Amino acid sequence: MKRIKVCSLDELKQKLKLVVEVGDRKVLMIYHQNTVFAVDNVCPHAKGHLSEGRLEEGSITCLNHGTCFDLRTGKVRMDMIDEDMAEMFEDLDDLPFGPLPTFVAELENDSVFLLWDE
Ligand code: FES
Repeated sequence: MKRIKVCSLDELKQKLKLVVEVGDRKVLMIYHQNTVFAVDNVCPHAKGHLSEGRLEEGSITCLNHGTCFDLRTGKVRMDMIDEDMAEMFEDLDDLPFGPLPTFVAELENDSVFLLWDE
């Protein structure tokens, strides 16, 4: 597993969301609730860009169709999903797409690292 420096904590704190390229992926680094999160930038529903998403209560909502993902687990938050989506899918088992991939971020001094095994 590699440990890759992706940005500075200062920069992430200023921007709150920052897309970095690691291998062939675009990873969305997020500073939210005094915590650094790392998730895939591509929404697993229909490939919306989560860098444009809304952060709230430890989750990110894709603005394309309103799917809301927990930033820690990547699981869909059925309690915060858009109403139209909620009508189509009653629970997590009904969803025709998987969770949002999440990655492990580490801090050291002012640097943010990703643990990467691809
Ligand atoms: S593309 Fe993200 S909710 Fe549809």
